[in-house]
Amino acid sequence: MLSQKMIDRINLQINREMYSAYLYLAMAAKMNELGYTGVGKWLTAQYHEEMFHAMKFAEYLHDQNAVVSYTKIDSPEFKENEIKPLFQHVLSHEKSLTASIREIMDMAIAEKDYATQILAQWYIDEQVEEEKNATEIIQKIDLLGNSPQGLYLLDAELGKRESSAPLDFNKI
Ligand code: FEO
Repeated sequence: MLSQKMIDRINLQINREMYSAYLYLAMAAKMNELGYTGVGKWLTAQYHEEMFHAMKFAEYLHDQNAVVSYTKIDSPEFKENEIKPLFQHVLSHEKSLTASIREIMDMAIAEKDYATQILAQWYIDEQVEEEKNATEIIQKIDLLGNSPQGLYLLDAELGKRESSAPLDFNKI
């Protein structure tokens, strides 16, 4: 059984994951508009990842007989219209999500809530991957010298990404 404080905190995290999905969807639209359709595809796959993160939390609340609250999602905030600054934004956003997940883990440890600790560990591992992906893309841009030819090749490579997020939740 979850504490009400934990239920509220997980519902807040669902909102943050959905905001992340919305942010990446908006970034994808901007990149598609600029002709970087490979980057757009990568960001759309990232949108699916974030929705998966949100739904995994929602299913956990359902499994714990807790109420899932879907609250207002803020408008996506970003100004970047070039690839490198955009991925720097992605990385800093992922770092903020990592910090947010760590708060849940800290709360679960303080409450001796072992089930949520196990769930939070999954997200902590996931965040290592999320930060690594964004960091590697920034490193590649730097290796390519941020040149138009390099960005063209990078766009083609990122366009190969397929979303692996399963979205077959049925208890949300
Ligand atoms: Fe839900 Fe990109 O972390």
